[in-house]
Amino acid sequence: MIIYRARVFDTPDNPFTGGKLRSDSDVALVVDDGIIVERSAYVTARAAHPEAEVTDLRDGLLIPGMVDTHVHFPQIRAIGHLGKPLLEWLDTCALPEEMRLADNSYAAAVAREFLTGLRAAGTTAAMVFGSHFAPAMDIFFSFAAESGIRITSGLVTSDRTLPDPLLTDVDRSVTDGQQLIDRWHGTARLRYAVTPRFSLSASPELLAAGGSLVEGNPGIWVTTHINENRDEVAGVLELHPAASDYLDTYERAGLLSRRAVFAHNVHPRDRELARLAETGAAVAHCPTSNSSLASGFFPMRRHLDAGVRVGLGTDVGAGTGFSLLKEGVQSYFMQRLDPACGVALSSTHLLYLATAAGADALGLEEVGDLSVGKCFDAVFIRPTPGEPLDIGIQHAKEDEDVLAMLFAMGTPADIAEVWINGDSVTGAVGRDS
Ligand code: GUN
Ligand code: ZN
Repeated sequence: MIIYRARVFDTPDNPFTGGKLRSDSDVALVVDDGIIVERSAYVTARAAHPEAEVTDLRDGLLIPGMVDTHVHFPQIRAIGHLGKPLLEWLDTCALPEEMRLADNSYAAAVAREFLTGLRAAGTTAAMVFGSHFAPAMDIFFSFAAESGIRITSGLVTSDRTLPDPLLTDVDRSVTDGQQLIDRWHGTARLRYAVTPRFSLSASPELLAAGGSLVEGNPGIWVTTHINENRDEVAGVLELHPAASDYLDTYERAGLLSRRAVFAHNVHPRDRELARLAETGAAVAHCPTSNSSLASGFFPMRRHLDAGVRVGLGTDVGAGTGFSLLKEGVQSYFMQRLDPACGVALSSTHLLYLATAAGADALGLEEVGDLSVGKCFDAVFIRPTPGEPLDIGIQHAKEDEDVLAMLFAMGTPADIAEVWINGDSVTGAVGRDS
């Protein structure tokens, strides 16, 4: 049993529906076997558990582990190519890099870099877009298990419009997918997600093959892209003439449910928003990616009004890094630019989007905030003394201001320690292998 004594910020109640920031300046989180068993004033906890070890975190801030609802593991070495729209960026930056994962030692190096980067950024759970190569997925899942991160991921599938080495076929997609599900779904903190790249590179038959895996393996997830870029949307509607809209290409294949996460949705139709809300599927909002690829303005107001659940995604490598703090402030900037269609986000909204909203989108009820009964997934932020973030926090009068400064100025360099399920996980993944 350990008592973590800290200044804690979290959002157990959704601020988009009236919930307030919960901030406690000197609270004790009593953690036993990875679970928060008590949350009380420090003096009370200390008196109740005189034998417990105390970790004093009062020289920083403690927030829940962050949840990235959309990030590509094969793209860590492709971050930072600015100036290209989606389809050109895929052809010239992302796909050439993804082809290199046909080499298992390359895939292993990339997987380790990726998982190390996620943890260092304070990400303790993620929906991870995988590789097109089944051996690379085995390698990724084995390092993911070692990392402790709550990872949902799967083999990426395509059977048209991409370079040949990235293509599969219906039968192979089912055989490879089933083997990976059998090996990895439900082991450690891993879950499997059927992952067609997008409907621009998938025939209706390949999408339906993904649907058959979902039907045959209750509990697995689905993730893919949707409505990201206007040229992409037009291409999808041309390639799938029977579908009424982009979402329908997935729905008719059996891929739309509460266990599905769709990335981007920058250009949705009203019908699509209504169906996402009805089925409980979630949208991964990826603001640095949307800016970098000039994909467009994410209509957050329309999503909220329709009742669609939204989480934050970094979308590395179109996104510019692993930090969900940066995604939060980028969303804030963009939403404020259009007062008519945007949402005036507060720092409490940003914390919610980076933590509890992501946990909700991924169906991870056991995390998302630091309440009693939740797993202790937490991020300790201790800015470098003398840096603007440190100075700002020391002089801030309101808790919301402290949180705003964290999003405005915080980076992975300010993250001193990360816990997943009560285990401190700081350091490189796969160091000894
Ligand atoms: N659509 C299909 N593939 C990708 C990808 O790798 N990144 C992004 N942002 N969109 C995609
Ligand atoms: Zn993506």
